[in-house]
Amino acid sequence: MEYRKVGRHGIKISEFSLGAWVTYGGQVGEDVALECMQAAYEHGVNFFDNADIYAMGQAEVVIGNVIRKLGLNRTDLVISSKVFWPFGDGPNDRGLSRKHIMEAVHGSLKRLGTDYLDFYFCHRYDPEVEVEEVVRAMDDLVHQGKVLYWGTSEWRGHQIADAVGVAHQWGLYAPAIEQPHYNMFTRHIVETELMDAAHNHGVGLVVWSPLASGVLTGKYNSGIPQGSRLADPDYDWLRGVITAERVAKVRQLTEVANELGCSMAQLALVWLLRKPEITSVITGASRAEQVHENMKALEFKDKLTPDVLARIEEILANDPNAES
Ligand SMILES: NC(=O)c1ccc[n+]([C@@H]2O[C@H](COP(=O)([O-])OP(=O)(O)OC[C@H]3O[C@@H](n4cnc5c(N)ncnc54)[C@H](OP(=O)(O)O)[C@@H]3O)[C@@H](O)[C@H]2O)c1
Repeated sequence: MEYRKVGRHGIKISEFSLGAWVTYGGQVGEDVALECMQAAYEHGVNFFDNADIYAMGQAEVVIGNVIRKLGLNRTDLVISSKVFWPFGDGPNDRGLSRKHIMEAVHGSLKRLGTDYLDFYFCHRYDPEVEVEEVVRAMDDLVHQGKVLYWGTSEWRGHQIADAVGVAHQWGLYAPAIEQPHYNMFTRHIVETELMDAAHNHGVGLVVWSPLASGVLTGKYNSGIPQGSRLADPDYDWLRGVITAERVAKVRQLTEVANELGCSMAQLALVWLLRKPEITSVITGASRAEQVHENMKALEFKDKLTPDVLARIEEILANDPNAES
C-alpha cells in the first residue's frame, strides 16, 4: 500500500480506503464489519470513511466498536465523518448552519468514541447558508481540535473556490479535501472541474462508489444476484445504476481485465489511481473476500500502460475532455 498526501496538506492516507455507507451498521452485522476492517487494515488501509447519516449514526457506532475490539491505535487511523443530511425532524437538524455543524460533530465524536475527526466533510453544498458561516464554523472546529482537516463532498469547482476565497480573505482554514462520485461511468465533474480545484487550491480528492455499487464488478451482467446490494429492497432506488449500455461496456472491459490477469473489479479500481490528483479510492465491501480482492488490485497498477488505457477509453467512450 502506498500513502498519498491529501493535496498540499501534510497528512498521508492509503491510496485505497474503506467506507461504511449502506454496509456497516445496516446491510451486514458488526462481526462482518470487523472482518472487513481487519482485512483492510492488514492490507495497509489507514483511512476509514463514515457519515452521521449512514444507518442514522449506527455506522459510526459500529466502526467505533470495531476499532476498540481490534485494539487499533487511534494515531494509526484516519477517521472521517460528514454533516448535512437531515438527522432529525427539526429545522436545525440538517444542513450546514453553525448550529447544526456544531451539534452534529458532537454526535459523531460520541458515536465513534473518539476525541477528534481527521476529516470532517460538508456532505453537500447548502444553498441556504452563506459560505462564510460554513467556513467559520469549520475553522472553529479545527481550532477546538475536534477536526484536523475539513472538506466538502459533491461540491462543484466554483463552490470550493468560493470557500477557499473566504478562508483566505479572513485567514481561516480552507477546505483541504473533496469527496466526489467518481468511477468509469461517472467522470464529468471530476475530470472537468475538480482536477482543476485540486491543482488551484491544493485540495485532495477521495472518491466514492468506485465500482458503481458493484456494476463494475460484472456481478450484474446477467440480472441481480441474491445477497447483493441491489437485490436489497431498501436500495431499490439505486437500481438505476444498472443499464444495458453499462453492462455491454463491462463485458468488453472484462476482456481487457482477463488479458491483464486481474478481475473486472480490480481493473475498475486501479484505473481510478491513474490520475495523481486522486488521493484515495474509497472502496466498499460486504465481506472480507471482497476486501482482499479489491486491495490486490494495487498489484496491477503497472499494467495500465498507455495502450491499455487507450483501449479502456475506446470502450468507455465517455472521456469528458476528448475532442468530439
Ligand atoms: N460522499 C458521498 O456522498 C458518498 C456517497 C456514497 C458513498 N460514499 C463513500 O464511498 C464508499 C464506497 O462507496 P460504495 O460502497 O458505493 O462503493 P462501490 O465500490 O461502488 O460499491 C461497493 C459494493 O460493491 C460490492 N462489491 C465490492 N467489491 C466487490 C467485489 N470484489 N466483488 C463483488 N462485489 C463487490 C459490495 O456490495 P454487495 O456485496 O452488497 O453487492 C460492496 O458493498 C462508501 O462506503 C462511503 O464511505 C460517499
